[in-house]
Amino acid sequence: TDRVASPALTLGPSYRPSSEKPTATVSRPVNSPNVHVLPQTPQLIALLTMIRDKNTPRADFIFYSNRIIRLLVEEGLNHLPVVNHTVTSPVGKDYAGVSFEGKICGVSIMRAGESMESGLRECCRSVRIGKILIQRNEETGQPKLFYDKLPPDIKDRWVLLLDPMLATGGSAVMAVEVLKNRGVPEERILFLNLIASPEGIQKFSEKVPKVRVVTAFVDQGLDERFYIVPGLGDFGDRYFTV
Ligand code: URA
Repeated sequence: TDRVASPALTLGPSYRPSSEKPTATVSRPVNSPNVHVLPQTPQLIALLTMIRDKNTPRADFIFYSNRIIRLLVEEGLNHLPVVNHTVTSPVGKDYAGVSFEGKICGVSIMRAGESMESGLRECCRSVRIGKILIQRNEETGQPKLFYDKLPPDIKDRWVLLLDPMLATGGSAVMAVEVLKNRGVPEERILFLNLIASPEGIQKFSEKVPKVRVVTAFVDQGLDERFYIVPGLGDFGDRYFTV
């Protein structure tokens, strides 16, 4: 996967001439219609630069990851359907607006996905959040389901599935299968993700093609230990323990 060069872009405000703008590696493009990559803005690339740096201390890793997570949640909400909602303002005039059509809930893939719960709560007050524990066998890369606890009425909700790293895609696909077994149709699942591998995106959109994916970045590939490269190492370790 290292053979195809990742795209590079000059970044910075338009009042700066291109010759004075730095060049940065940006996300690979994706052509699956259900995969949405966040706009590769200078701000997003600066935030990703902070969390990819192996010398970034844990407190900063948490702070900058949280900012990207907030961007993912805000963008993810734009992928939920809305209905007409007209309100009357204090001056007695109507405003034709919208409101969200359905109920939502979050589901985090433990442990790394739990880092995304507070970003979801910041945007969706008192949102219900379920959990799925899937562990990857480090040698084979095969995922195994250990635990799940989900809202009882989950089949009637839109589900925001949370996992910051999409590597082989094994855990994410298994999590979607768990949700489908509870009666949630693929079309009502939105997968929020910080960094994906091209292999993970391909597997995910092959196996569960109707799930919408919102990701901040599609990276170069996977190494022999199934880490994303260049990636950021083990997200759960850097956010919760190291
Ligand atoms: N999970 C991580 O935390 N990092 C990777 O690179 C891949 C999976």
